[in-house]
Amino acid sequence: MTDVSLGMPQLPAPAYPDEVRARLEADAKEVIGRYPDSRSALLPLLHLVQSEEGYVSRTGMQFCAEVLGLTTAEVTAVATFYTMYRRKPSGDYQVGVCTNTLCAVMGGDAIFDELKSYLGVGNNETTGDGKVTLEHIECNAACDYAPVVMVNWEFFDNQTPESAKKLVDDLRSGRPVEPTRGAPLCSYKETARILAGFPDERPGAVEASGGAGHASLLGLRLAKGESLGQPRVVSPRGEAKQEAPQGGSGHLSSHDAPQPTSASDPAAAPEQHPAGPSSEEGE
Ligand code: FES
Repeated sequence: MTDVSLGMPQLPAPAYPDEVRARLEADAKEVIGRYPDSRSALLPLLHLVQSEEGYVSRTGMQFCAEVLGLTTAEVTAVATFYTMYRRKPSGDYQVGVCTNTLCAVMGGDAIFDELKSYLGVGNNETTGDGKVTLEHIECNAACDYAPVVMVNWEFFDNQTPESAKKLVDDLRSGRPVEPTRGAPLCSYKETARILAGFPDERPGAVEASGGAGHASLLGLRLAKGESLGQPRVVSPRGEAKQEAPQGGSGHLSSHDAPQPTSASDPAAAPEQHPAGPSSEEGE
């Protein structure tokens, strides 16, 4: 580890307990070793300290500064620039509602307003039981599933105010919650550790993370000027399979909302699927 001897004032912060410090130092050494310039490891190290306390504390920033030979001013500047780093203790579940343009006009603004009122919290505030922190988030490159809600950075697609309220109810009561696609939901601290670059060791989680969604594949084919038959997709294990047409039967999660736009979506209209049945025919 690098000694800090830059002559810059450091942030007053309580120290980690010895056991925590030793464990984090070992993890930090592994992360830093991946980069030719140690300071490049700052972003994953901020995730690492976030995985310890659930947010980037002053202690965490002090730790990052010490192991990277940076000033706490430099670390603070980075930690406060990126919104994925929390700066205060927060809930077990970060419920992010996308309110960028497409999600907003598709209902994201209405979902966010409804959840604020339903949960009794504002943006970046946590419910009294410590379970849910609500925030509005920027585009998560899932516009083809708008409006999108993210829980601990897992996707919940095509939401409505009602489905979003059921989602937060289930999160707060401990009922099982399954993302629409991708890996199973894990805790915020576990997510932070994965983002720090450590493997997701839950059985099947990595395999579940692969592959593009149906709407994304349709958009890609439209962009390439292809006709819209039934797309063939390749599973993470390399198996070719036929994906269900959009319109309800393709949902993977009980927390998906109905898709009211699908009937008028040319990508989902039966006449656009000459090679396969309509969603109604297939059910
Ligand atoms: S605008 Fe919401 S995911 Fe892109």
